[in-house]
Amino acid sequence: MHWLEFYNIAERHQDLINPTSEEKITKLGEKMKMNDSTRIIDFGCGCGLPLILWAKQFGISGIGIEFRERSLNRAKELVAESRLENKIELVRADASKYKFEPGGFDIASCMGASFIWEGFQPTLKVLKKALKPGGQILIGEPYWMTDNVPPKYATRESFHSELDILKIIQREDLDLAYMVRSSPDEWNRYETANWEGMISWLNENPDHSERQEVIDKMHEWQDDYFRYGRQYLGWALYVLIPKL
Ligand SMILES: C[S@@+](CC[C@H](N)C(=O)[O-])C[C@H]1O[C@@H](n2cnc3c(N)ncnc32)[C@H](O)[C@@H]1O
Repeated sequence: MHWLEFYNIAERHQDLINPTSEEKITKLGEKMKMNDSTRIIDFGCGCGLPLILWAKQFGISGIGIEFRERSLNRAKELVAESRLENKIELVRADASKYKFEPGGFDIASCMGASFIWEGFQPTLKVLKKALKPGGQILIGEPYWMTDNVPPKYATRESFHSELDILKIIQREDLDLAYMVRSSPDEWNRYETANWEGMISWLNENPDHSERQEVIDKMHEWQDDYFRYGRQYLGWALYVLIPKL
């Protein structure tokens, strides 16, 4: 099975595809002083829920870039339900190739998708190019919660410690203005939502030829979560401003 299909299955009932909450996303809108003249570009926008929440609450407008058909179709459905077609544009594209308007946005965001540019620092470099002078970045990123992650886990993923994240932010001529970390409950909500998606798909597809692959993938994700995810892995949304 193609790796993207595992995600389509696991995320089939999720509109917010990260270990966070609608309340925290809305709070960030308030902290970033979003209003009806704020223009946002969101790379890897998934089902577009953050843009929708901000448009409803603060009147922002924006563009969401997403390359997966399932997520983009769900985003279109949610935008239509909220009658926000005049505020939110959705583009199906590979974000790494998408030609955005340089200097065209008050906020550039990428929540849980810095792998698009193969890392945290390269992602910051791209997001900065999208900003108007004085614009802000919102980036969601995993981090190692301690410097003592056993090498057998640390080398599996290209994550940074939070101190390294802070240093990279500063090296990119940015300052950290605000952040929200994910709680254990938000991690559990996100991880178990993936299992729920897979289990419901397995129940609906008892004779599917790739059924065992989905079961194995679910077990692999559960093992990772229990082996090191809960103990060593954090996730946070960081608000970045131009260097003070
Ligand atoms: C972890 S999800 C986060 C979705 C959304 N930001 C949210 O917070 O709900 C990452 C998203 O990035 C999308 N994505 C991954 N690579 C991409 C690419 N090259 N171009 C556009 N979207 C991409 C995935 O399809 C997925 O929907």
